[in-house]
Amino acid sequence: MQRPNLDTLQQSLAAARAMVANVPDPIVLVGPDGHVAETNVAAHAMLPTLRLGYPLSYALRSPAILDAVAAAVPGATASVEHLTRVPTERTFDVQITGIALAAAERGVMLLFRDLTEARRLERMRVAFIANVSHELRTPLASLVGFIETLQGPARDDPASRERFLDIMRDQAWRMTRLIDDLLSLSRIELREHVAPDRRVDLRLVAMQMLDTLRPMARERGVDIAIDCSPEPAMVLGHDDELSRVVENLAENAIKYGESGKRVDVALTRRGSEIELSVRDYGPGIAHEHLPRLTERFYRVDAAESRGKGGTGLGLAIVKHIVSRHRGRLAIESEPGQGAVFRVLLPALA
Ligand SMILES: Nc1ncnc2c1ncn2[C@@H]1O[C@H](COP(=O)(O)OP(=O)(O)OP(=O)(O)O)[C@@H](O)[C@H]1O
Ligand SMILES: [Mg+2]
Repeated sequence: MQRPNLDTLQQSLAAARAMVANVPDPIVLVGPDGHVAETNVAAHAMLPTLRLGYPLSYALRSPAILDAVAAAVPGATASVEHLTRVPTERTFDVQITGIALAAAERGVMLLFRDLTEARRLERMRVAFIANVSHELRTPLASLVGFIETLQGPARDDPASRERFLDIMRDQAWRMTRLIDDLLSLSRIELREHVAPDRRVDLRLVAMQMLDTLRPMARERGVDIAIDCSPEPAMVLGHDDELSRVVENLAENAIKYGESGKRVDVALTRRGSEIELSVRDYGPGIAHEHLPRLTERFYRVDAAESRGKGGTGLGLAIVKHIVSRHRGRLAIESEPGQGAVFRVLLPALA
């Protein structure tokens, strides 16, 4: 690579300064006198009281970092973890490197690497594996228990055998459903950045899915009403995925809002968007749960959801499908007054 033609020392210094200024991670250089000698934009954003020519300790109160700065020797790097609480909670890995400056003087360079996102992903990964394992272990443990009972005490009891086999079939189905949901979630996530490009009539998709769900609603004494204009509601979409959205939302409304006896589905044009809303009149959802409902495996009442055959993945799937369709999902609920789930998708002319 050919070097740019920087003839004067002045110019190289300006170039080096410009480079440091634009590094996205905060960088601070402490001079031989222990005062701040050089900084960049990101450092000022993170440490608003940082001033050139002043001691580092005016801006940064972490004893671990200040000790490491005092002990730094040229050529060696120490690594210190640093937590900030304001304006948001963040975790940094601070690399503190001693550097030789001119005339046998030493300086110290501090480079802050933001680990917050990496840590969050790591926590999510660990929690996800723990959740999947837990969800699979429960039905598996019950299957093993019944197999042992059938081999032992219930060996010659045809009535128990039939009953146990029914339960075992349900548990096996539960695991199948869980795996299916996990697979479709990962499929949707893989494609999330590719917006679907087929023209789909959301009205047709909704009506077909509601027809499929009507028997289940009837069994629970729930009436499903649909309110939409007779014109098609065209969106760019994937019909199977949009069916999953209607299915999950309507099924939740029927299952959890059963006591309200009624579910209202509506399709409404709102400016450049089409809104699909699913409203129930059941117990509703307390406010503190609303922001977390779309997390994988998050359930307000895990036992109730499991009892109703749920895996806790339905709304996570809905969220990813909606996001792939460049849409939005909004959830509103007042405890005691039911819940309304709205999906807004860009409308096609
Ligand atoms: N209409 C609703 N009314 C009250 N609670 C709801 C409603 N919809 C969802 N919830 C709560 O949100 C939780 C998460 O819903 P989600 O659809 O993701 O999972 P699930 O229904 O438990 O399982 P799955 O959808 O996989 O069958 C549910 O367990 C339930 O506690
Ligand atoms: Mg559900």
